[in-house]
Amino acid sequence: MNRAPNFNRVALIYAAMEKATFGPWLWRCRCSFLPELTTQRSGLVVGDGDGRFTAKLLEENSLVLVDAVDASTEMLHKLSCNAGLRAGRVRMHLADAREWEPENSAYDLIVTHFFLDCLTTAEVGTLAHKIRSHASANAVWVVSEFAIPKGWLGWLIARPLVLGLYGAFFVLTGLRVQRLPKYGEALVEAGWARLSEKKLLGGLLVSELWGTDSQAE
Ligand SMILES: C[S@@+](CC[C@H](N)C(=O)[O-])C[C@H]1O[C@@H](n2cnc3c(N)ncnc32)[C@H](O)[C@@H]1O
Repeated sequence: MNRAPNFNRVALIYAAMEKATFGPWLWRCRCSFLPELTTQRSGLVVGDGDGRFTAKLLEENSLVLVDAVDASTEMLHKLSCNAGLRAGRVRMHLADAREWEPENSAYDLIVTHFFLDCLTTAEVGTLAHKIRSHASANAVWVVSEFAIPKGWLGWLIARPLVLGLYGAFFVLTGLRVQRLPKYGEALVEAGWARLSEKKLLGGLLVSELWGTDSQAE
């Protein structure tokens, strides 16, 4: 197994970098399903990053407790700052998500925003199986990701952009993965079903709501 990438160096400028390159779009993507996340009580945010989304989730859902997993100390530090007074409802886990063992047996909310693209398809599969066995029957999993739409937009814009992003993160963080995983196939294989999907920027960004496969029957 490769070492997890090191996002410490970019943690301080991560939000500014994002705004300079994608404006409000990544944030909109993360928040696509936020109105549907007000009743969950036990959340798991994997590859949480600087915690801006977790802070917003804690604000919108006053009862949720969150386990936040990230391999970067600096990102977790930013998360703690961003969560402010609500940080008491977050347990932070400095760990490689591929090796971390969940402590809760019944998460009803899982969140991975722009994290699965740090893993290979096989790694997503292993993680999805592990999380499935620690999720309640009514659990939902929110996924935000880059995507390569069909047609000219995919060839002319999305492919070079995704390639460029992987190149930049290789240089900045040592990220070894260099292509988008087939996370949809991996999630289905692990017992998850896509319930809903929203596309932004012509399909360059996707936000998806997944549930356990029993919810789709
Ligand atoms: C591209 S950033 C996304 C952060 C945040 N979720 C967002 O929406 O901006 C990926 C995050 O995943 C973390 N990460 C990458 N690989 C990891 C791994 N194997 N285990 C735990 N965290 C990891 C990084 O430290 C970083 O904070």
